[in-house]
Amino acid sequence: MKKIILVTGAAGFIGSKLCLKLHLKGFKVIACDDFSNGKKTNLIKGIKFIKLDLSVTKQIKKIPKKIDYIFHLAGQSSGEKSFENPFNDLRRNFITTHNLIEFSKKNSIKNFFYASSMSVYGNEANRAKIKDFCKPLSFYGTHKKLSEDYIILNKKYLNFTIFRMFNVYGPGQDLTDDKQGMVSIYLSSLIKNNKIIVKGSLNRFRDLIYIDDVVDIWIEAINNKKFNNRIINLGTGKKIKVYQIIDVLKSIHNKKTKIEILRGTPGDQYGIYSDKSIFNISNKKKFINMKEGFKKFYLWAKKTDF
Ligand SMILES: NC(=O)c1ccc[n+]([C@@H]2O[C@H](COP(=O)([O-])OP(=O)(O)OC[C@H]3O[C@@H](n4cnc5c(N)ncnc54)[C@H](O)[C@@H]3O)[C@@H](O)[C@H]2O)c1
Repeated sequence: MKKIILVTGAAGFIGSKLCLKLHLKGFKVIACDDFSNGKKTNLIKGIKFIKLDLSVTKQIKKIPKKIDYIFHLAGQSSGEKSFENPFNDLRRNFITTHNLIEFSKKNSIKNFFYASSMSVYGNEANRAKIKDFCKPLSFYGTHKKLSEDYIILNKKYLNFTIFRMFNVYGPGQDLTDDKQGMVSIYLSSLIKNNKIIVKGSLNRFRDLIYIDDVVDIWIEAINNKKFNNRIINLGTGKKIKVYQIIDVLKSIHNKKTKIEILRGTPGDQYGIYSDKSIFNISNKKKFINMKEGFKKFYLWAKKTDF
C-alpha cells in the first residue's frame, strides 16, 4: 500500500519541491496551502490539493483522516517580517502546529515531521549543536521553538522529526521577496540592478544548504529510523561569511556590481552554522557545494520572470 503523506505549505518553496519528489517516488501526496505566501503555479499536477488555512480549527476538517505522515511546512518564513506582525507569525507558525498535532492525535496519525529553523538558537550558538541553549532573537524563532516544544510534549502519541533547517536556497525560491532568503535576495537584485544591498556586516556567517539536499533528507527520514524522535540540524556544517557569498555570486554574474551596506535588520543572528551531526544520521555523505548550487540557482533565475 502506498504511504499517504500530507504536505502543508505545498504552494511554497520547499513544500512544492517536496511534493514533486514524493510524487515521483510513488507516495500518495495530499497537498494543502492557503496561498498567503505560496503560489498556484507551484502546485504539482496529479496531486490532490486542498485550499485551507491551518490556523482555523474548523478548516482542518477538510483534511482526510487516513494519513501516514504529516510534513508540516506551512508557516510565515521570514524573521524580519515576524516583527511587523507578531500575532500573524504566532498564528502561522504555532497555531497551525497546534491544530495539526491535535488533528493527528484524534485520528491516530503516527508520524509528524516539522520545518523548524536555526533561528531557534539566536546568538547563543555559533557552530550549533542540538543540545545548545536556545534563545531566539525574533518572534519567528520564538514561535518555531514553541512548536518544537509542543510536538515533543506530545511524543507519546506520535513519532516526530524536527528539522532545524539552516539557509535553504535554490530554484523555485521567491525572487520577489526581499525579506526572506539571503541568497535569493542578493541574487535577484544582482540580476535586476547589478547591485547587492547588504543589511548588516559582511563578516556575518551562515550555513547554506541547496534545496535538493533538503528534500532528499526529508524523504530519507521516512524510512531511516535514525531520524525517529529527534531534532535534526539540517545544514551542511560549512561556515560561510556574507562576503564569500557575494564574491561567488559576483564571479558567476561577471558584471560590474555595486555593493551597498545598510544597518542590520531586527532579530538578525550575527553568525550561525550547523555542526556535522547530520552525517552521523543520514546515509547521504555530502551536499552540493556552494559554487555549483549558486550556478544552478543563477541559471534558473536568469530565465525566470520576476
Ligand atoms: N527557506 C528557508 O531557508 C527555511 C529555513 C528554515 C525553516 N524554514 C521553514 O520551512 C517552511 C517552508 O519554508 P519556505 O521557504 O518554503 O517558505 P514559503 O513561504 O515559500 O512556504 C510556506 C507556505 O506556507 C503557506 N502558509 C502559511 N500560513 C498558512 C496557513 N495558516 N495555512 C496554510 N498554509 C499556510 C504559505 O502560503 C506558503 O506557501 C516554513 O515553515 C519556514 O519557516 C525555511
